[in-house]
Amino acid sequence: MYNLKPEKYNFGSVKGMSKEQLDEHYKLYVGYVNKLNEIWNKVYIPANYTDSNPTYSNMRSLKLGETYALDGVKLHELYFENMTNGNTQPSGHLLNSIKSQFSSYDNFISYLTNVALSVRGWAILTLDSIDSKLHIIGSDAHDVGAVWMSCPILVLDVYEHAYFMDFGTNRRKYITTFINNINWKVLNDRFDRYLASMGSIKTNNYEFVDSRSINN
Ligand SMILES: [Fe+2]
Repeated sequence: MYNLKPEKYNFGSVKGMSKEQLDEHYKLYVGYVNKLNEIWNKVYIPANYTDSNPTYSNMRSLKLGETYALDGVKLHELYFENMTNGNTQPSGHLLNSIKSQFSSYDNFISYLTNVALSVRGWAILTLDSIDSKLHIIGSDAHDVGAVWMSCPILVLDVYEHAYFMDFGTNRRKYITTFINNINWKVLNDRFDRYLASMGSIKTNNYEFVDSRSINN
């Protein structure tokens, strides 16, 4: 029996966003947790899935709902975690790698901001297993554009529900506010953990071999 519980977050630590905005957003996250429990507790009965096909069927609905809810839970947990207890200065191994790979911190922020302005769901800084490098991924929905075996380090929700109460259509101002709230300890912990899991690179002297431009 699955009974996943929503995580708790210190929304009082977030500067520049209202409690109402964050509480309403949290309700959506709780909804994904509840739906995921519902989906995973569904008992597979072959007789209910005799119509399986890729246009419309019970199994198709179940599987689309599952990935949407599961990614919705994971992404919101990563997002809320990396924007609470923050307001910290960029620092650590991750900052060094960002500067190395994106030319400068300001260039990275510019790139991240433009990705976040160009998608409908998520802008995500990941460490990808294929090259052990940082990439900024744009996603239009929880389960659209996701890259497998790519580890999310910084997760930014740009669905309108994430900012519309406080910022209206001014998404750029929301993005700036989010960036000011980033918890760099959380980011560095994720970065170090993912690097360690990839095995071959020592985190204490990590350095990208080539500095790729943001156009690569
Ligand atoms: Fe959201």
